Amino acid sequence: MLEMLEIKTTRTQNSRLSSVDFENLSFGKYFSDHMLVADYADGKWQSCEIVPYGNFSLDPATSVLHYGQAIFEGIKAYKFADGTVSIFRPDKNWERFNKSASRLEMPEVPQEIFMDGLKQLLDLDRDWVPSADGTSLYIRPFMFATEVALGVHPSISYKFVVITGPVGAYYSKPLKLKVETHYTRAADGGVGFSKNAGNYALSLYPTKIANDEGFDQLMWTDAKEHKYIEEAGTANLVFRIGDTIITPHGDTILHGVTRRTIIELAEHFGYKAEQRKVSVQELIEGIEKGIVLEAFAAGTAATITPISTIGYEGKLYELPGAEGRSFSDKVLKYLNDLRYGRIADEFGWNFIV
Ligand code: COI
Repeated sequence: MLEMLEIKTTRTQNSRLSSVDFENLSFGKYFSDHMLVADYADGKWQSCEIVPYGNFSLDPATSVLHYGQAIFEGIKAYKFADGTVSIFRPDKNWERFNKSASRLEMPEVPQEIFMDGLKQLLDLDRDWVPSADGTSLYIRPFMFATEVALGVHPSISYKFVVITGPVGAYYSKPLKLKVETHYTRAADGGVGFSKNAGNYALSLYPTKIANDEGFDQLMWTDAKEHKYIEEAGTANLVFRIGDTIITPHGDTILHGVTRRTIIELAEHFGYKAEQRKVSVQELIEGIEKGIVLEAFAAGTAATITPISTIGYEGKLYELPGAEGRSFSDKVLKYLNDLRYGRIADEFGWNFIV
C-alpha cells in the first residue's frame, strides 16, 4: 500500500487538445495531455503521479521486452449533456486487472492507485472527454515488468500506467468472422482469461490469414477439439436463440465487463441468460434453421457490434440483418442512455468523476 495517498500532479504547459478533430475520432489515434505513472519496487508501490503524456526510456534488458510480463485493461468514460464525466464500471476492470496480475505473477494494484488515480486523471483531462453519441474517452491502464535482468523469473519492479484518449467506433460495420479451427488462442490451465499482451500477439498471424481471406476477425474455438466457440479476440461473443441470450463461458476466455453487463441486462429485460459452452455445430445448425436470431461481439472497444456473416470450413453463413436485432438494439440503447446520463443509474454502474 502507498503510505502517502496524495497523487502528485505535474500539468503540461503545452496542451494538444486543440489539435484533436472531434468529428473524426476513430480508435486509438489521439492521446490526452496527461498520464498516471506508478512504480513498484522492493515489495511495495513506491510512487504514483500524474505527469504530461510522454515517452519512457527503457534499458534494452528490461524484462518485459524479453519475457512479456505485461497486462492491460480497456475502460470508457462518457460525458453527460450537463458536462458531468462518468466512467462505466471501472471497479469491474480493476478486479479483472488484479486477476490478470496474479496469473502473471505481478503485484496487485491497490484502489488508491487504480480507482482514485483514474478519478484524478480524468478530472484533470475532463475536456478531453467527447460528448457526441458513439464517442467516449478510452482509458487504457497497463502494467509491465521493469527489472533489468535476463534470468527468467518474476520481475522485482513494475510500472503501472494509465493513458487515455477520445475515441469513436472501433468497428464501423457488422462483422464477418471466420471460425478458427487450426490455430489456438488459449488452452485449459493457460492464460486465456487474463488480459495480457501475449494473448493479442499470438492472434495476429491467424487473424492476418483470415483478413487476407476477407474476414474482419476470428471466432476462436477450444484448443482440444476446435469444437466449441470461445471469443473473437478483440471482444466476447453473444448469441440470441429465441428468447435466450447465450454467451460462451470458461477460463479460456476473457470475462468482459460488457459481456457481464449484457447478461445482467438480459435478465433485467426478462430474457433467459445462459453462460455455457456453445458448439460450432449448434451455431451453424441454428443459423441454417433460422433460430439463431442475433450474434454480436461485445467489448469495451467494440461495444456491441453485430455479426453479419460466419465463415466455417469454406462456407459462409448469414445472420439475420438489422430488422432482427431486437435484443442488441434494446441493450445498446439502454447502455447509451445510461452512459450519457439520460436515464437513472438504477444499477450504480456510473462512476462519477
Ligand atoms: C477493449 O475492448 O478495451 C480491448 O482491450 C480490446 C482491444 C483489442 C482494443
